[in-house]
Amino acid sequence: MKILVTGANGMLARATIAHCKAIGDEVIGLTRQELDISNRTAVFSFFEENEFDAVINCAAYTDVDGSETNVERCYATNALGVENLALASRKHNRLFLTVSTDYVFDGTKSGFYTQRDTPNPQGVYGKAKLEGEIRARNLYARSIIVRSGWIYGEGGTNFLSVLPKLLERGEPIKAINDSFGTPTYAVDLAKRMRELLELDLPLIFHVTNSGEGANYAEFAKKVCRLKGLDEHLVEEISALSLKRPAPRPKNSRLACLFSERLGLKPLRYWEEALEEFVLQAKTAV
Ligand SMILES: NC(=O)c1ccc[n+]([C@@H]2O[C@H](COP(=O)([O-])OP(=O)(O)OC[C@H]3O[C@@H](n4cnc5c(N)ncnc54)[C@H](OP(=O)(O)O)[C@@H]3O)[C@@H](O)[C@H]2O)c1
Repeated sequence: MKILVTGANGMLARATIAHCKAIGDEVIGLTRQELDISNRTAVFSFFEENEFDAVINCAAYTDVDGSETNVERCYATNALGVENLALASRKHNRLFLTVSTDYVFDGTKSGFYTQRDTPNPQGVYGKAKLEGEIRARNLYARSIIVRSGWIYGEGGTNFLSVLPKLLERGEPIKAINDSFGTPTYAVDLAKRMRELLELDLPLIFHVTNSGEGANYAEFAKKVCRLKGLDEHLVEEISALSLKRPAPRPKNSRLACLFSERLGLKPLRYWEEALEEFVLQAKTAV
């Protein structure tokens, strides 16, 4: 398959490009500088001038707190950008997959969120991502939406991704113990997204590693155990004590209603995936 991957400098895009190339796909990876998805003219010209079968949209404005003040920038990429790609894909009959987030839910549920739960995003980032989902589905019937959450991986700059390096340096860290999610390794998510292109089913999928999920402190302590480090490096705090600008769901664990019914094997347990990431990061430090 020939695949366009947008946001090519990002964490998930890197894992996606690496996986697709490894299985023999031809991949065009474009950074924001090479293709700004919020620029409709640029998106349409690129589609006009280049042949490919599918798009995996990994481009997003992912600064959750920054979105509260940079509302326009957030919507330009996360809603309008998705719309642009959906419309260009429709015009040229390209399969379109776009990545969304667990932050479309409000976090008040105690169990796992499935596709039967109505989104109710609390912050600007979640609202813009939901708007992107809606526009994709309304404008192009061949859109696949992949919601995931708590993604970490090589090249990531978010808390979960940088934790192993911080802890290995012996830096004490504060980790929230009252927000719960389903940690997901970018490599595993990338593989699943590629399988979803093969299925070509225009659904909303929830894709995460298996297991009961975790809070940030549990995740951090697991990293300590895997690295043979003292768990006392992890100080448990409450989400409220951080006083962050954006509201975040207290619980955003995801489960999928469709994947297994469609013959897709559950992704491995999050602890197993984390072990692979941590052991690889060890050699990279
Ligand atoms: N990380 C998580 O825990 C998480 C959880 C749930 C869902 N997601 C979703 O997963 C996807 C991938 O996220 P990620 O963690 O890989 O994020 P990331 O590392 O921040 O990567 C996003 C990439 O998109 C690029 N980008 C921003 N605006 C763009 C635009 N207008 N046009 C083209 N590219 C643009 C960014 O470039 P610059 O850096 O140059 O701006 C960056 O390289 C996103 O859809 C995100 O919403 C992430």
